[in-house]
Amino acid sequence: MENASWIRRMFEEGAALKKEFGEKNVFDFSLGNPNVEPPDKFFEVFSALASQKIPGKHGYMSNAGYAETREAIAEYLSEEHGKEIFSQHIIMTCGAGGGLNVVLKTLLDPGDEVVISKPYFVEYNFYIDNYNGVTRLVKTKEDFSLDLQEIESALSPKTKAVLINSPNNPTGKIYDKKTIAGLAQLLDGKSRELGREIYLISDEPYSKIIYDGVTVPSILAAYKNSILITSYSKDLSIPGERLGFIAINPDATPLDQLLNGMIFCNRTLGFVNAPAFIQRVVQHLQGLSVDVAIYQRKRDLLCRALKEMGYSFITPEGAFYLFPKAPINDIEFVRELQKEKILAVPGSGFGGPGFFRIAYCVEDWVIDGALPGFKRLADKYFR
Ligand SMILES: Cc1ncc(COP(=O)(O)O)c(C=O)c1O
Repeated sequence: MENASWIRRMFEEGAALKKEFGEKNVFDFSLGNPNVEPPDKFFEVFSALASQKIPGKHGYMSNAGYAETREAIAEYLSEEHGKEIFSQHIIMTCGAGGGLNVVLKTLLDPGDEVVISKPYFVEYNFYIDNYNGVTRLVKTKEDFSLDLQEIESALSPKTKAVLINSPNNPTGKIYDKKTIAGLAQLLDGKSRELGREIYLISDEPYSKIIYDGVTVPSILAAYKNSILITSYSKDLSIPGERLGFIAINPDATPLDQLLNGMIFCNRTLGFVNAPAFIQRVVQHLQGLSVDVAIYQRKRDLLCRALKEMGYSFITPEGAFYLFPKAPINDIEFVRELQKEKILAVPGSGFGGPGFFRIAYCVEDWVIDGALPGFKRLADKYFR
């Protein structure tokens, strides 16, 4: 618990501040909880299906999920990734978090290493620890893109997987096609050299929250032993419904063992299967997402204002996080922000000391209300 996430800590401290000063006087950027409501079509399909009384539709099912949902996803993914993927390569999970646990439980033997580039989503530490795996952290480049040399130097006979997250939480970075191709080449060469597979796990719950026409390159098209994990938490703004899926590259080896292992682990981790009703809903919503323009506008509003004040950052290409440089120690700076009733998370909580994270999936009044506080601190530290 000592190491438990900074995000939760800030959220809880924020709750105390809100009690003291009132909800509307605290500007909370601590949690990545989408503030945009799900698209209208979600509610239409939800209502239409909810009134149907179909025998067995609330009972147990295959541990991999409903065949019709997996078929709809496979069809959509095949088109999106330019690679043929079939329903048997899809496993429905309890969100991306559930999917990550299923994949790690299936892959890891005690002591196996997973290489992760920092800053990163710290829950990965706990997930890897669940299965007695070891997290190997490596640096990214200054613009938060993957540093392939750093990754290469961390690969060892104990490496079971490289885990990437794009668009990235907390930086908003999207790894480009050339970088993914380079990573694929590196892992391919190293797998051959070591005589064992190194899996590329890509956690992509923000893959539809992207800006300025930037695209997320397909890892399934790039690397044979790739496993994609995603969810509807951010795409459709339904994190509480706990639905996501794993897509395994049809060329991965040993394919049957991987698939059977993951289906088995979905069951034995106690998930049994992903929630039934919401699987039926998303079957009809492939490719749909919330209106990303809403997040883009908030990003632009915040970036423009903070840049003018003197803050420096990489403009996020996706997700809804901004990761500016802190003018002083990041934990101290976040404390200073708190005095301005602004809640952010220190970069140290993501393996990125010297920065702080702003989750801008918030109402506009939160951004507007926080700007004077950001300005006072900018005047204090940048002038
Ligand atoms: C990078 C990353 N991966 C996974 C998750 C978990 O997503 P889900 O709610 O689909 O389990 C999150 C949630 O914030 C996230 O930021």
